[in-house]
This record gives sequence, C-alpha cells and structure tokens, in this order.
Amino acid sequence: MPARKGSARVLQLPVDPEEFARSLLDWYGEHQRDLPWRRQTDPYRIWLSEVMLQQTRVAAAQPYYQRFLECFPTVQSLARARESEVLAEWAGLGYYSRARNLHRAAQIICRRHDGRFPSDYREALQLPGVGRYTAGAVLSIAYGQALPVLDGNVGRLLVRYLAAPEPVRSLTTALWRLLEELVREPLVSRRIGAFNQALMELGALVCTPRNPRCGACPLEKSCGACRAGIQAQLPQADRSQRVVHLHFLAALVPRESLFLLRRNEEGPFLKGFWETPNIEGRSSSGFAEQAHRRWGVELTVMRELPPLRHRITHHQLHFAPLLCELRAEFVPQGWKWADLSCRELAFPAYVRKLGNLAKGKY
Ligand code: ADE
Repeated sequence: MPARKGSARVLQLPVDPEEFARSLLDWYGEHQRDLPWRRQTDPYRIWLSEVMLQQTRVAAAQPYYQRFLECFPTVQSLARARESEVLAEWAGLGYYSRARNLHRAAQIICRRHDGRFPSDYREALQLPGVGRYTAGAVLSIAYGQALPVLDGNVGRLLVRYLAAPEPVRSLTTALWRLLEELVREPLVSRRIGAFNQALMELGALVCTPRNPRCGACPLEKSCGACRAGIQAQLPQADRSQRVVHLHFLAALVPRESLFLLRRNEEGPFLKGFWETPNIEGRSSSGFAEQAHRRWGVELTVMRELPPLRHRITHHQLHFAPLLCELRAEFVPQGWKWADLSCRELAFPAYVRKLGNLAKGKY
C-alpha cells in the first residue's frame, strides 16, 4: 500500500504485539545495563535521570547524576536551592533550559503536589520542561502506568523495524499512535517500565545510529530494514534540520590561574552563563578595537590559539581563541576574574575547554 502523508500515516507491527514484547523483554532481562536510576523507583530520581538522558548519553550523564543527587538529594532540597547553584551543578551537560525547568518544576511540586512528582498524566504535563516523553517515562517507570515513550533511540529503532522510508520527524504522530496501541497489550502494560526501557536500551546498545549490530538484536528476524539489508540507509536524513554555523572570536585574558569572564546577558545561547568576552566574527584583526568600543576594556591580542568547535543543538559554534593581555586596569562592571576549575559559577563546557587550550601558553 502506498505510504500516506503526515498524521494520516498508519504504522503496524509485522508480528503479533505480544511476540514483539516478549522478545524485547527477554533481551532486556539479560542485557540491560546496571544503572543507578534502575536500582530504585523514587520518582524524583527517575525524573532527574530522564531529564539528563534526553540529550546526553548514559556514560556522560552518570557522574553528573551522582553529583547532582549528592547536592540535591530530594525534590525539597532542589526547590530550595538558588538557580545559580543548580546551573553550576549542570555546567558541562549543556541544554541548560533543562536545569532551569527542573528547578522551577521542583518548586511547583513542593508547592502544589506535596513534594511528590504527580502521578496524574495531565498534571505532570503542566510542569515546566515535562512533555509527553518525560511524563510517559516517569509515570511508566516510577508508577507503572501504561504510557508510551518515544525518544530518538525508539524512533530510529521503530523506523528501521518497520522499514519506513520517511525521516523520523515526519512520522512522529504515527509512531506515538503505534506505541499507544502497543501499551494496551496486556504483557506490555503489566511490565511497562521494563518495556519502555527495553526499547530505549535496544536503540542505545544495538540499533545504534551507525553500524547497528543486527546479529545481536532480538527483533532481527522480523525487522523490515534488516530483511531488506537497508538498515544502514535508515532512517532517512531530515533535510529540515540543517546545522547552522556561527563563528566567534573569544578573548582569553589570564591573570595567574584566573581568567576574565563576563556574564552573557543577551543570549540567544547560554544566557546567564559566565563566558569569555566573545565577538561574532572570524578575523582577529580589529578585535581589540571592537572590544574597546563595545565594553571599554583595553586588550592587546598576544597570540591566536588553535580553533575550538562546540555543538549546541543544531548550532555549530566555531571559536577562534585569542590570548590577550589587559593593558589598563579597567574591568567593566560585573565582569569577574574566575578559576575555570571552580564549580561555583556556571560556565558552559566550551569555556573550560578554552581555558585548557591556554594552559602553559602565557
Ligand atoms: N534513555 C533515556 N531514558 C532511558 C532509560 N530509562 N533507559 C535507557 N535509555 C534511556
């Protein structure tokens, strides 16, 4: 049957849903990773893990998860913290709106929900930063509610399994519908937390973006992509998600072990974070003059350091780091001399990387 476009598209599993679920659950029982958030069912800890894992890999998220819980072991302690403290613990993980939303949501949970993540789906969706994915993940894993989850790993796995020729994004509605059907299957709804995590785990460990390990997959025999030998070509790339490149000159102004930083007040990225004084552009000539005009600060560019790249969602930032000297004592109001290894101020990951580039060069 020809594929229908948009929300009218209907996806169907090629096998009985119970058989699909059993293969997946058996595999998960044997191969799941032993992860800290899987050792308990505290909704706060599960919520935190799901927020961290939305845009961060398990290996990268784990140390942050442990440290974050040492600082904020309960929803109440998170709600009481200052936003700057929360951001400082999040620094390096990226996508900082996740941390701001988590903090605001913790305050709402304490005020309106007796300090417990709401078990009502609609109430959960009212919390800042909690969308269909997060509400489904927390309510299914912590409370055993038969709700589906669709993240990047699950989308890729299903698109391959169904050999769908469209990009994942254009199938979002159809994939949610398929999953809503699937969670009604008794075996799935009985073991919903394990089922949802099994789908995500299989996507993360076996049905990987590149070089999927089809020989290790419990769904290999019924997988449409694998049977047709097109697993490497799916999912189809989404042309609407082109990467935007932005170029910055970044001033590294050292004083012993400290660097001069300014708070980013204007965005669009990393608003509220402490950054090197940056000016959009590629060529270092005229940098000192521009810095003087913009901030009144008097800098001399001593040398250019190797370029640095940093990705934020679909923006690729390119930094040309310039090691500078401060010619006059004047430092604009609100700027700070900061130790980049300290955890009190919130720095984006790229600032720490720039600091490392400058080590031993001045
Ligand atoms: N990715 C996001 N949440 C996950 C989970 N609970 N298990 C495996 N991968 C995940």
